[in-house]
Amino acid sequence: MTLDHSKKKAAGDGLILGVETSCDETAAAVVARDGSVLSNVVASQVDIHSRFGGIVPEIASRKHVEAIVPVVEEALLRAGCSLDDLSAIAVTQGPGLVGALVVGLSFSKALSIPLGLPLCGVNHIQAHLLSLFLKDIAHEGRKGPVPDFPFIGLVVSGGHTSLYHVRGPLDMELLGSTRDDAAGEAFDKVAKLLGLPYPGGPVISALAERGSPEAFSFPRARLPKTPFDFSFSGLKTAVLQKVTELSNRDERIPVEDICASFQAAVVDVLVEKTLMAASEYGLRTIVAAGGVSANPMLRQQMNRKAEEAGIACFFPRPEFCTDNGAMVAYAGWFMLEAGMTLAPDADVYSRLAV
Ligand code: KG4
Ligand code: ZN
Repeated sequence: MTLDHSKKKAAGDGLILGVETSCDETAAAVVARDGSVLSNVVASQVDIHSRFGGIVPEIASRKHVEAIVPVVEEALLRAGCSLDDLSAIAVTQGPGLVGALVVGLSFSKALSIPLGLPLCGVNHIQAHLLSLFLKDIAHEGRKGPVPDFPFIGLVVSGGHTSLYHVRGPLDMELLGSTRDDAAGEAFDKVAKLLGLPYPGGPVISALAERGSPEAFSFPRARLPKTPFDFSFSGLKTAVLQKVTELSNRDERIPVEDICASFQAAVVDVLVEKTLMAASEYGLRTIVAAGGVSANPMLRQQMNRKAEEAGIACFFPRPEFCTDNGAMVAYAGWFMLEAGMTLAPDADVYSRLAV
């Protein structure tokens, strides 16, 4: 990568480079102010981690170090731009795996400081909740309908399952979150116990299409005292008990039916609580984002129930559901405009304060 210090653009009139390394994807993207995605490059480490049935943090960090420079170079190349065209760099500052986040932040500091570019430290959750505003110019050419603020936002991924009252791009109030496993983590763990590959979500949702969601009655944790919180560990244990019981009786494990019934239990709770939050806060719009929001059954059920309740429902394009640099870049625009830039000694954070 070559650095040309001679030409610099004024902040706000160019492009933002977004860098994401919070988990197991090394990702970079170039995004314009209106959300047009000029490039979106994701180097997934799934093949490596799948051998272990889940993410190994030390391996994730090492792989980010190897991938970050080629991934950013590729993002600039595909966007047809150079570092001189950038107004700022946005990087995921947290939450996520500390050793993984550090790679993206250190790289972004090393790039932004000599270039004199502002650096924005993006909250990964906020980025997911803004991902549905991205326009994929390569595939779409234009943006579909987008929601108005405020809305209820469900972030549902491998690391997070939380409900937010989203008042503006950088103004989000946490209403509740999972007390144990994230929904995506439950998909991954159930896949592992069924002997299916990592990540479990896409495999389970494909197998579920050939199974019956009513075959097994798995528990739905409703948590009436804290209705916007989630819990999926009981569900995972119930699946484990059923599989153990069937194998102890030497019965065939009906994998498709288990997948469909497990998925139905997760989807029911996610849809129910999101709509309950919309009703409680008197909002007519809901948004679901994050890796699990790619799930076709979740999309179908959420659309159906929202329509019945007269509520508008939005999801990101599939390629922006899982971790990517474009959502980070787009969130970065709002931070840049709000003057929220990072000091050179800024550190990553593994968890959110609230
Ligand atoms: O957003 P993401 O890439 O990473 C985190 O921030 O965690 O989400 C990854 C998670 C994994 O747990 C994966 O199993 C899940 O999203 N996932 C799905 C589907 N596609 C990915 N879960 C259910 N159904 C899917 N189709
Ligand atoms: Zn994520």
